[in-house]
Amino acid sequence: TTRILTGITTTGTPHLGNYAGAIRPAIVAGRDPHADSFYFLADYHALIKCDDPERIQSSRLEIAATWLACGLDTERTTFYRQSDIPEITELTWLLTCVTAKGLLNRAHAYKASVDKNLEAGEDPDAGVSMGLFSYPVLMAADILMFNANKVPVGRDQIQHVEMARDIGQRFNHLFGRGRELFTLPEAVIEEEVATLPGLDGRKMSKSYDNTIPLFGSARQLKDAIARIVTDSREPGEPKDPDGSHLFVLYQAFATPERLAEFRADLLAGLAWGEAKQRLLQLLDNELGEARERYQTLIARPLDLEDILQAGAAKARRISTPFLGELREAVGLRSFR
Ligand code: TYM
Repeated sequence: TTRILTGITTTGTPHLGNYAGAIRPAIVAGRDPHADSFYFLADYHALIKCDDPERIQSSRLEIAATWLACGLDTERTTFYRQSDIPEITELTWLLTCVTAKGLLNRAHAYKASVDKNLEAGEDPDAGVSMGLFSYPVLMAADILMFNANKVPVGRDQIQHVEMARDIGQRFNHLFGRGRELFTLPEAVIEEEVATLPGLDGRKMSKSYDNTIPLFGSARQLKDAIARIVTDSREPGEPKDPDGSHLFVLYQAFATPERLAEFRADLLAGLAWGEAKQRLLQLLDNELGEARERYQTLIARPLDLEDILQAGAAKARRISTPFLGELREAVGLRSFR
């Protein structure tokens, strides 16, 4: 069987990039009868970027409700909060001890901070916490704990999955005694949506303030779409679909027939205002029902809590014995 696993950091409100890059492919993959899937809220990862407890808490609720509203089947999948699985943090330490510092020096997120500091003439590590620095080790523990072989993610996470692979391989080599303790994971990328652009054409990201909220109100959705940057071609003038991120956004949600039609209409001079209207319509069609389910779910935190507790119990039926084996492998055995 295929073991599929992916997580979302609980620092904000889910946006279309999270949906197209991770949630949608994960849910589709989870329907495969030969697949065994693990989806979780990366709430320990959230602490790295956010020291606002209220925000962490509301984001956990929003992201839990989002997964379920998008069609996650909790019978067939294992759905949990990272912080409910203490074995993950324990594994993080075992992995930390075999991870070269040099590997983490090369992680994009850390390097970006260092470069920014150097440019500003500051200490290279100014503002860098150990959490940020060792972020990829925690993520490796998430993945290796459940021996996932497929990890559906957006392009920005590929490096992290590769590091998990490296770290797992190193651990196998040191402690496996010829046995593969960890399955080595692979990132699964949907080419078309690997990097969904935001309103300004850069990667859609909370940190660029260019997101379209997944389950925003009709008003929020409309306002966001109105802010999509387009070129200055007038109605009637032919537009260049391939140079337009509005087109890329449309593409992420349209059937091939609709997409072909949209392309032809842009080439024939469809006004940008009209094109935005069509995108709004398309999103409303694809997400309307899920949005209603989301509203119901988010209003019932106690039910969400029960679902997540059940998911954690299911996950721990795997993680508890497996961590026992790993402890033994490194030499932490009972004296009995
Ligand atoms: P996070 O929370 O930043 O993003 C969640 C998922 O959404 C994808 N994504 C995008 N995909 C396409 N276009 C975009 N504009 C876009 N923005 C975000 C991300 O690639 C990701 O797949 N470290 C991870 C969470 C994590 C994880 C894991 C993932 C923790 N442990 C183990 C997989 C396996 C993160 O911060 O993703």
